[in-house]
Amino acid sequence: MSTTGPRPPEPIPGARLLFSLDPGVVHLNHGSYGAVPIPVQRTQQRLRDEAEANPMRFFARGLVDRIAHARRHIAAFLGADPDGTALVGNVTIGVGIVLQSLRLGPGDEVLCTDHGYGAVALAVDREARRTGAVRRTLTVPLQATDEEIIEIVRSGLRPGRTKLLIVDHLTSSTARLFPATAIVAAARERGVPVLVDAAHAPGMLPIPVGTIGADFWVGNLHKWAYAPRGTAALVVAPQWRQRIEPLAVSWQQEAGFPLRVEWQATLDYTSWLAAPVGVYTLRTLGAERVRTHNAQLAAYGQWVVGQALGVAPADLPNPGGPMVSMRILPLPAGLATTIADATALRERIGDELGVDVAINAWRGRGWLRLSGQVYNRADEYERLAEGLPALLARHV
Ligand SMILES: Cc1ncc(COP(=O)(O)O)c(C=O)c1O
Repeated sequence: MSTTGPRPPEPIPGARLLFSLDPGVVHLNHGSYGAVPIPVQRTQQRLRDEAEANPMRFFARGLVDRIAHARRHIAAFLGADPDGTALVGNVTIGVGIVLQSLRLGPGDEVLCTDHGYGAVALAVDREARRTGAVRRTLTVPLQATDEEIIEIVRSGLRPGRTKLLIVDHLTSSTARLFPATAIVAAARERGVPVLVDAAHAPGMLPIPVGTIGADFWVGNLHKWAYAPRGTAALVVAPQWRQRIEPLAVSWQQEAGFPLRVEWQATLDYTSWLAAPVGVYTLRTLGAERVRTHNAQLAAYGQWVVGQALGVAPADLPNPGGPMVSMRILPLPAGLATTIADATALRERIGDELGVDVAINAWRGRGWLRLSGQVYNRADEYERLAEGLPALLARHV
């Protein structure tokens, strides 16, 4: 490969061996579902074994305290107030909890951006239908500067009417870092509450949640913090905690926040109990080292695949920060412009090239998203670069 682009990072010794990925598949899409390190998988399995050995003892003696212990550990890792942190299954659930706790009414609006996650927009739409509120969506140019993003959001707020602003810290379809802290400050000046969708932040963005100052923040530990799937944290500012209602009422309803949100009857809570081992694994590898490695590898992947597709370096979208471990590339016009087409193309790349990537349809265009993770190597992106142009030519 040419040496004029970014150079791939040195692999982190031994890191690849921590994962149990199928060696026949190149997994360049950590951002969607993560991958759980073997020590974390083993810990969760031991916890499940414990539950199956004695279900009564596991569920009815001490589980609430063990959940609280995991919650405190995770809150400390996130830099969040432990009393304002509740463990939830995923960001989707956290967003649903916030929306239904707001008690929206006719004439109210929830403000989003067009970089937001599709399922979050659907959740807002359902809440709007239920309550008579509306969703309004701001258009943010892909290459907007932080200042431009802040200004677009600031001028889009309608105090009194905008009951919630939802902003992604790192967007999914566009892998774009938003200046979340400054946006929260701008909204606060105008009295508008903010929910930060930080699905990708834990483990990737080293910004303490407490310094962002959002009314609501929700992030997945099962993406970049190596926790088992089903581990997320919902962080709520003090003035809202009394109002937060779980999606389903269960036995801890009278315990108040956060336990009333966390306790959802007979569930498998082992992902939360094992999550601290994911955080420990990240710390053992060196969180900063992992972040730098992953961001450099994603940048290399974007460049090498961009070269193969003939995308000029100036047209490669910039993620907005050096820590971002996902990068996107525009696909040739007309390809993957709908969710159905994007899904079909993603599956075809997986089947024919043995490479898993994310493909998103955004603003009438198809976008390829690449992640970088410690188990990835430069030659995996090169393999994609080699096979993709011909596959896309056949796909048109
Ligand atoms: C920005 C964003 N929000 C929300 C979600 C939903 O996360 P989950 O599927 O864990 O609920 C994702 C998932 O990738 C995401 O990228």
